[in-house]
Formats: sequence, C-alpha cells, structure tokens
Amino acid sequence: MPQYLVGFSPRLSGEVPISTAKNAVLPILAAALLTQEEIILYKTPDLTDVKHMLGILRSCGAEVTEEKGSVRVRAVNVNSPGENALLRTMRASVLIMGPLLARAGECCLSMPGGCAIGQRPIDLHLKGLQKLGAKVAQEGGTVQVSGLLKGANIYLDFPSVGATENLIMAAVLAKGVTRIENAAKEPEIIDLCKMLGLMGARIAGAGTANIMIEGVERLHGAEYTPIPDRIEAGTLACAAALTEGSVLLEGARSDHMRALLFKLTESGVICQEDARGLRLRGKARHPMEARTLSYPGFPTDMQAPLMVVATQTHGLSVFLETIFENRYMHVVELRRLGAHIRVEGQLALIQGGRTLNGTAVTATDLRAAAALMLAGLAAQGQTTVADPAGHLARGYEGLEEKLSALGASARRLDAPANLTKKPGNDGEFMATN
Ligand code: EPZ
Repeated sequence: MPQYLVGFSPRLSGEVPISTAKNAVLPILAAALLTQEEIILYKTPDLTDVKHMLGILRSCGAEVTEEKGSVRVRAVNVNSPGENALLRTMRASVLIMGPLLARAGECCLSMPGGCAIGQRPIDLHLKGLQKLGAKVAQEGGTVQVSGLLKGANIYLDFPSVGATENLIMAAVLAKGVTRIENAAKEPEIIDLCKMLGLMGARIAGAGTANIMIEGVERLHGAEYTPIPDRIEAGTLACAAALTEGSVLLEGARSDHMRALLFKLTESGVICQEDARGLRLRGKARHPMEARTLSYPGFPTDMQAPLMVVATQTHGLSVFLETIFENRYMHVVELRRLGAHIRVEGQLALIQGGRTLNGTAVTATDLRAAAALMLAGLAAQGQTTVADPAGHLARGYEGLEEKLSALGASARRLDAPANLTKKPGNDGEFMATN
C-alpha cells in the first residue's frame, strides 16, 4: 500500500517543472481511436491513469508503444474493449465512447460506476449522442451505443467537461455540422480540439460555450505536446503559499490558473508570471471565499488543496462546493491533524490559525491525497498519508519528489510507517479521474 511520510517544512524554495496535464492527455489518447494513422504524444506524464488509458486503448485493438516520455498509438482497426476491469474503475474510460461510435458505428462499454466524490452519471454524454443519431441501450452494467452519426444541435444542461469532449470526438466524423451549446470551456477542451485540428478535424469555438464541428470523412495522424497541468501547478502554488515559500513553477500557464491566483493574491501571496513560468512568494494570510464553478470559475479540483491553505490564514474562510456532491472527504482527515472545519451541505467553514499536528491520515480521492500531503508540510512533526487505492500516483507525477526538490521533507514509504493509524476510511476506494 502506498504511504507517504511528510514532515513540517517551512519556506519551500526553488524551481520545479510542471508535468503535462492528465486531464488533457486522457481525452487526447481517446482521440487516437479516431484514425488509422499514428498519433504521437510527447511529454506524457508517468501516471497510473495514463497507463490505464493505454491499457484500454490496447483492448480496443490499438497498438501502443511507450518510449521515454512519449507514446505512439496506432489504431488500424478498432473494436469495443470487451470485459476490462479498468473500464469500471477509471471514469475517463467513458471518453472512448464518442471515438469508437464515430469510427466503428458502435461501442459497448461497462458503465463507469459512481465514485467517491459523487455519482457522476453519464446522461449528458448519452443524450448528446442520441441527438447525433445514436441508439442507446443500457442493460445491467453495460451501455451500448450504435448508429451512423449526423450533425445536430446539442444543448448541454450543464457544461460537463467529459460530455463536451465525448460529443466533439463523436461529431468530428459525423455527416454535417454539429453545434454544442453550453459547452465546457476548460483549457483541456481547447487542447483536445487543437489535437483534433492537427488530425484534420474542423472545429470552431473551442474554449467558448458554443462549439461548432463540421464533420470530415476521415482524420489522419498527428504529433502533439499537451498543455502543462494547471491542477498540479495549482497544488504546488498552494504548497508555496502555505509555507511562505519562494518558488518557480517552470512552464506553468498562469492564464489557465486565474481563479486560483486571484484567491492567493487576495490572501497576500505575490504571484508573478514570467517567461519561465509562474513565481510565487510569501504567505497566504487573509481568509478567503471560494465557490467551485466550471472554468473559468474556481476549479473543484483545487478546492481541497486551497482549503489546506485556508487552515493557516488568520480568520474564517468560506468554501462552497457546487460541482460534486461529495467532495469534502478530506475534511475528516484534516480535522485529525487539528484543523477546525465545519461542513454544512455544500458549505465548508474553515477557522484559520489553528496549529496542525502530524498524525496518520488516509487519502480518499486524488485531490484529497494531494491536500493531505500539503497539510503535512504545515503540521508540526510527521504526517503519514496512507493511500490504499494509490490515488496520488494516478494524477500527480512524483508529487513527493517535487516537494522534496523544493526543500520539503516528503517521501514515499515502501514499508508502512511506524505510526498508529486511527480507524476510519478503510473501505473500498474507487476512481476519481
Ligand atoms: C472532469 O471530470 C475531470 N476529469 C475531473 O477531474 C474534474 O473534477 C471535472 O471534470 C470538473 O472539472 C477529467 O478530465 C478526466 P464533468 P468529468 O462531466 O468530465 C455532472 C481530477 O481530480 N454530470 O464536468 O467527469 C457530474 O456528476 C478530476 O482530476 C452529470 O450530471 O466532470 C458532476 O457533478 C476528478 N451528467 C458535474 O456534472 C453527465 O452526463 C461535472 O462533471 C456528466 C456530468
């Protein structure tokens, strides 16, 4: 079982490179199923989720070659993946539905289940595919979509990131024009559309709420380096703000991180963009208010890491989680460390200024795992973060190593640490990507 040992680590300093974005790489890999020709992705991060997605592509008939730091995918013929445990445990598996349907006229998948952070249904994906002419049949835990796709006007009831990606990938090979209204505007959507554009797709409006796709006969191979990970960069920015650090996040795109940087700046941190990336200096001192929203609003994936920062400010911070219904699981663990946090439904009230004391805590999802690593930096003594489901390595490329490179005491333990674990949270964990 992965476990991390984190010690009190004031004033992080130095430079760290930001990895390529998990949430950009996963849909782009799914898009490789749209063409017979070879796709090459550079700077692919070494993450469990990426490995799982490559496994899923292989089970769809694609040939996958991993070289150091890059991946080649060639999907000469494609098929539905069949029974594969990765499909049920990995949320992003649903992203192969649009490409397989567009390319092969059908796709049969195990339904991705609910997960720790919320139910996460796929109704918006299915409704959009039906608009494009697909027949949808659900039986037991399986969903089958089939049919020849024709361009259509689609309105998303909510700007779902995954549904927008799936529908774009379905529409690029559909006959005619598709318009998606109330589309998600995340940078990862723009990145997917850039890659699809290099493959020969015709897409306008990516990054806005109205995306137009003109279907083409076929797509071809392409090479691409996806964007840097704004959530990894944001997590490290929070680590700097928490420890009164002076840190350069090499390659970070501050234009993708505006909402977080406004929060940190209001709280007293100096955030400066320069040619090499993003520099942060100083400590977050003032309490904050954060409401999670779709991009360009404050990202739900940053809620847990920023909450840790809030525990060390002077005063009462107020957070509102509006995207996922169960994304405060880290609160119980932060309380073990001594944080004063009250949760009322979607609302969390964080009383800052309490001393945190290291103890044993457990990661319940990916961003909770990262938040606990950060809390360990601010806690007196040693904190052991148990991560039975391996969440951290699913979405962060060596977070403990990057923190160590900035002077933190943080390492992965191969053997269990000699600390007593309090009971609780030792049930089954599910995927959150
Ligand atoms: C993406 O998940 C990210 N995952 C998540 O990253 C991120 O938290 C989320 O977007 C929101 O920004 C990837 O990109 C691989 P959504 P996704 O569809 O696409 C509801 C991380 O830690 N909804 O925008 O699954 C849904 O239940 C993670 O890296 C429906 O009701 O998110 C949720 O409440 C976790 N029906 C809300 O919309 C649907 O058909 C947002 O979900 C689809 C979604």
